[in-house]
Amino acid sequence: MVEVSASILSVKKENAIQTLYNLEVAKIDYFHIDVMDGEFVKNNTIDQMLEYCEYLSSISTIPLDVHLMVKDVKSYITSFSVFEPNIITFHLEAAKNKQEVMEWITLIKENHCRVGISIKPDTALQELYEYLPYIHLILVMTVEPGEGGQKLIESTISKIENLKKYIEENALETQIEVDGGIQLKNAEVLKQAGADILVSGNGILNSEDYEKTVKELKV
Ligand code: DX5
Ligand code: ZN
Repeated sequence: MVEVSASILSVKKENAIQTLYNLEVAKIDYFHIDVMDGEFVKNNTIDQMLEYCEYLSSISTIPLDVHLMVKDVKSYITSFSVFEPNIITFHLEAAKNKQEVMEWITLIKENHCRVGISIKPDTALQELYEYLPYIHLILVMTVEPGEGGQKLIESTISKIENLKKYIEENALETQIEVDGGIQLKNAEVLKQAGADILVSGNGILNSEDYEKTVKELKV
């Protein structure tokens, strides 16, 4: 069984409270929080995501899975760690050098969160390998980061397979999370490729029955 992290990026603001409740009832494993700064990617979701985190941490026990699509990683680790997320993930492409990557890893651990590193579809896996012993998960982007509701880029599937192979060959325990354009019709191939956590936004939000969709994504 894989875990499901529901992206709340595309939740309609008018119905947010009801939708977040319905996701919780549907037994999602995490709320996936897409933090965009208007610099690393065009959109800016900072205020909205701070508001959602504040609300969720007061009413829900479902763990938060924070995905930072930001340039100033250090500041946002600090501003989102107050919500005690289970996972904080940053983008490898946001770092200037190895020292900065290691500093961010340490800072996330000091805040008692699990550490994830994400790569965009065009970033090579090899750039990540040296960090795997220090982190808990890799977030493989299956679309270009920046917006919800895009179509999954097929070429990212072999990347997941190769990453899984590398993790097994090196006896690592790193989890693989996949994010972007994921829905029931392509979930199976991602699970076969080695995904441990599926992020899904519109795939769940546009479905009739959240509970049924989440259940089928998991098996
Ligand atoms: C893209 C985000 C994803 C995405 C998920 O930048 O990181 O989390 O919005 O939403 P769907 O499942 O709708 O592609
Ligand atoms: Zn995301």
